Amino acid sequence: MDFFNILTSDYIESHSSNERDLLADLRRETEIKCLNPIMLSGKVQGIFLSLISKIINPKNVLEIGTYSGYSTLCIAEGLTTNGIIHTIDKNEELLEIQNKYFEKSGYRNQIRQYTGNALEIIPRIKVNFDMIFLDADKENYSNYLDIVKTKLNMGGVLLTDNVLWHGKVLKSSETNDETTKLIDKFNKKLALDSNFKTAMLPLRDGISISIKL
Ligand SMILES: C[S@@+](CC[C@H](N)C(=O)[O-])C[C@H]1O[C@@H](n2cnc3c(N)ncnc32)[C@H](O)[C@@H]1O
Repeated sequence: MDFFNILTSDYIESHSSNERDLLADLRRETEIKCLNPIMLSGKVQGIFLSLISKIINPKNVLEIGTYSGYSTLCIAEGLTTNGIIHTIDKNEELLEIQNKYFEKSGYRNQIRQYTGNALEIIPRIKVNFDMIFLDADKENYSNYLDIVKTKLNMGGVLLTDNVLWHGKVLKSSETNDETTKLIDKFNKKLALDSNFKTAMLPLRDGISISIKL
């Protein structure tokens, strides 16, 4: 998953802060019990999400793609005292591990979980957001952009994960892989969107950070 080579990733990891013990436990349990544990944000990206959230200090956050809840808990660290993170995943089998760690985290009352297709659920959440983390089905990233644009407050921050797609987006014109082509299309759309100022960062599998102007 890492775009950098293993040595660079190890160096980056050992020169970043440590994760909370609870998050380390969740990461290990995800690796043992969940399918595709590579989908979890990981230590450095988790700290990055926590830092961005602490800088924004959001009242309302939308997370698209909860998985086992690792990134949810990282982002929750920056919420205002009464802030809420709304998090959506289509896979109900993940609720058990999410709930186990949300209970222990101290953020239980600040997390709202939704199970189902995020494209259908997002329009039904009647709040606007200060921060959005987009990390679900990559094929729909462009559709999510259209939906979340109106749900993000002015000055709000959109974070989009996996924008480098293991480096495959660099050769999107030479591939038949539909996901690669759609992520590349999304990257171009976001970069050209005058409603956002965007920087693409080579963290892990690539993460774009955009502010709504
Ligand atoms: C990459 S994982 C999320 C990882 C998590 N954000 C983290 O960093 O630990 C993507 C998740 O999106 C969910 N997902 C995929 N398509 C979805 C959809 N249309 N609606 C809701 N969830 C979806 C999958 O079930 C999966 O758990």
